[in-house]
Amino acid sequence: MVKKNIGRSFNIYPMPVVLVGTMTDGKANFMTAAWVTKLHSEPPLVGVSLGLRQHTAKGIRQTGQFSISYPTVDQAQLVDYCGLVHGYEEDKSAHVDLFHGALESAPMVRQCPVAMECRLTQTIELPKDYFFIGEVANVYATEAVLTEGVVDVAKLRPFVLTMPDNSYWALGERVGDAWSMGKALRKPGE
Ligand SMILES: Cc1cc2nc3c(=O)[nH]c(=O)nc-3n(C[C@H](O)[C@H](O)[C@H](O)COP(=O)(O)O)c2cc1C
Repeated sequence: MVKKNIGRSFNIYPMPVVLVGTMTDGKANFMTAAWVTKLHSEPPLVGVSLGLRQHTAKGIRQTGQFSISYPTVDQAQLVDYCGLVHGYEEDKSAHVDLFHGALESAPMVRQCPVAMECRLTQTIELPKDYFFIGEVANVYATEAVLTEGVVDVAKLRPFVLTMPDNSYWALGERVGDAWSMGKALRKPGE
């Protein structure tokens, strides 16, 4: 298959769409983020890459705490709003029903079925972003999205972002069993 070089600004996608929360100047603030990833299992570490001038980034540097709330497709409009407006322009928390867990500076969004609170463990300074690494302290989930105590993605109905077309997508069809369907290609006896 012949390949064409299409430059180097391609995105890793699809990207999960979440709301990152913290307290900035003593007030709850939330922003939309898609440059988000799991980094480590034990201790559970997650990373978010936030622009240097984001009001949320300021709050995380002030408090050392943040949250990640997982919205469903039903909250796409609220999520998009939180990605269009800065906390120093408008009080975004007015649109959000917030709750706190164990950490005082990691407010979470009650409308989102799953939310986690994190303690900042490391900040990596990139040319335009801070990459914040946080250790997950607790994860909270609405009973309605659980199956036998585990988050069921079919019930959660998260959505993802693609760029450069700047689109939100619901998840599609299930493809197969991970760590399983590839076994058929292994050499016999392995
Ligand atoms: C779908 C979507 C994804 C976004 N992802 C990120 C991201 O990963 N990192 C980032 O710094 N900004 C991201 N943004 C932009 C911020 O959400 C936006 O600049 C927001 O106004 C920042 O709010 P704050 O200044 O109150 O923190 C995203 C926006 C949208 C709509």
